[in-house]
Amino acid sequence: MTISTLARREIRELRSYLPGEPAIDAIRLNANESPFSIDSGLRNGLNRYPASRPVRLTRKLAAFYGVGEENILVTRGSSEGIDLLIRTFCSAGRDSVLLTPPAFEMYQVYATIQGASITSVPLLADRDFSVDTEALLAAVTDNTKIIFLCSPNNPVGTTIPGEQVLLILKAMTDRAVVVIDEAYIEYSESDSLATLVAEHENLVVLRTLSKGLALAGARCGALVGSPELISLLDRILAPYAMSSPAVAIAEQALTDERLAQARTSIDRTVAERERLRVELGECDAVDKVWPSQANFLFVRFKHLGNVVTRLAKEGISIRTFDDSPVFDRCARISIGAAPDNDRLLKTIRDVN
Ligand SMILES: Cc1ncc(COP(=O)(O)O)c(C=O)c1O
Repeated sequence: MTISTLARREIRELRSYLPGEPAIDAIRLNANESPFSIDSGLRNGLNRYPASRPVRLTRKLAAFYGVGEENILVTRGSSEGIDLLIRTFCSAGRDSVLLTPPAFEMYQVYATIQGASITSVPLLADRDFSVDTEALLAAVTDNTKIIFLCSPNNPVGTTIPGEQVLLILKAMTDRAVVVIDEAYIEYSESDSLATLVAEHENLVVLRTLSKGLALAGARCGALVGSPELISLLDRILAPYAMSSPAVAIAEQALTDERLAQARTSIDRTVAERERLRVELGECDAVDKVWPSQANFLFVRFKHLGNVVTRLAKEGISIRTFDDSPVFDRCARISIGAAPDNDRLLKTIRDVN
């Protein structure tokens, strides 16, 4: 059995749209572009379409993540990767995705848009939000196509031990795609599982330049998977998906110098996270702060409403959630620059 067997029949039968790349230096009369370039500061004017897939950026991302070029699909943020996966594997009205809430909201949003049903196996709130492997495997049915795991988890900040992921992966061989969303991995002590795609055809790792590499505005992410899986997703990705400026900016971000700068920022954020974790824990208004491996903290307050109102008066915004019991009095607080964190702490200290 190959991974294609799990994909929707329509996608298996779809051929990639090939816009046809002109030869380098060709007179480009093939793509209805304007011949007139408006100065954009880029070497190649924006009057021309980019390459249908950004080959050089793919190569650089592959080197950065320690996998082969054939294992990478460059996407408009990892959000697009989530959407592509669900549209490739889930037939509307029939298939389902398995989620472990609390989790990043977009898994649910894209599944709903595609008409896929959702099976939820909540994280164990009383065991530091760990994944309930037994319940998860028991909840899988013939129609479960994708299992989304988020490590470090958004919004709670916990990671899933590699051995636990391996156990799930092995149990799901030939049955379902297992997605590990590593959007925040740069802030954690855990290693990425990206290199495991060489051994596990049903593993997908989602990476993004939005967090640790500080490029949320560029909209660039990467989906790491087996060549066969990448080829399936490539069929539904828009032609010329990545804009030339985004590709140029992402390539620059992957130079040694820029990566060293990013590392320094990540280290500063991690140090601030740990300072904030301790100091928030000492505030009267705070009930509990969970340890986090990401660039945010999950915090339970004694009276969330009071804190949110007070912070809003100071112009400080934090993330609150719906009123499900797991989120009772809880909020997610992103780690800012030190002066902003100081203001946050000062305000929370003043709340009774
Ligand atoms: C867990 C997780 N995955 C994926 C994303 C999407 O990030 P992007 O589309 O910017 O790569 C986010 C954004 O907040 C996230 O928290």
